[in-house]
Amino acid sequence: MSFWRKKEHHTAGQVDFDRLPRHIAIIMDGNGRWAKQRGLPRSAGHKVGAETFRTIANYCKKIGVEYLTVYAFSTENWKRPADEVNTIMTLLKKYLLEAIDTMERDQKGLEFLGDLSAVTPELQELIAQTHEISKRIHGFQANICLNYGGRNEIVSAAKAFAQDCRDGKCTPEALDEKAFSSYMYTGEMPDPDLIIRPGGEMRLSNFLLWQCAYAEFYSCDTLWPDFKEKDLDQAILAYQNRDRRFGGIK
Ligand code: IPE
Ligand code: IPE
Ligand code: MG
Repeated sequence: MSFWRKKEHHTAGQVDFDRLPRHIAIIMDGNGRWAKQRGLPRSAGHKVGAETFRTIANYCKKIGVEYLTVYAFSTENWKRPADEVNTIMTLLKKYLLEAIDTMERDQKGLEFLGDLSAVTPELQELIAQTHEISKRIHGFQANICLNYGGRNEIVSAAKAFAQDCRDGKCTPEALDEKAFSSYMYTGEMPDPDLIIRPGGEMRLSNFLLWQCAYAEFYSCDTLWPDFKEKDLDQAILAYQNRDRRFGGIK
């Protein structure tokens, strides 16, 4: 474990719930290793990982985080064996069905970000339903990144912009960073303040490349299925002890 990480884990103090990140992004990694450590199939890790997502999303809403964006399936994850991909898609379907029944009651918005044309028509239909319900919900929104890739998102945005120019809706001269952001899947949402990667890897794996320009990065060795509310507290505490300068001086 590197020195700075060790230091952060010993950061004293309590989370200041009046100074929370508005938007937290999580790379939900380590499901496979969690299962392997227990002699279980990788699918068991994905199942428990899905439970962890429920727990952490509830906790974020409870403490007052406005947006939680999680990486569930990347544009590169299709390389995995078909049965593993099927397990993940089945878990997503289960979650969608549950969300359609409960999200309005619980006031939890749910959106899916990514190239959704590649998922089954059944999943696309369920996602369309949650999108309609989400329009009526304010205060908390979970975003699940599905068939998501940061580079793919930027290329899609560039294509959409070029098409708008061709249709006479805008001009290259009018494009600035804010306008380009609106072409991203995250639209008008604030950028993530904090990006968390459980499982110990120190890489972005193509996640939110545009939006994370000034996000604080936090990694912990805990595998995603073992990640609990207290681990989120640790990440938030570390974030609150960082000095965000955005290129300026303080
Ligand atoms: C994250 O866990 C879930 C997905 C990428 C779909 P992994 O399945 O990558 O778990 P590890 O990294 O192999 O432990
Ligand atoms: C990133 O994890 C994608 C998700 C968590 C969905 P991976 O396990 O796919 O990333 P790499 O292969 O370690 O970079
Ligand atoms: Mg992984």
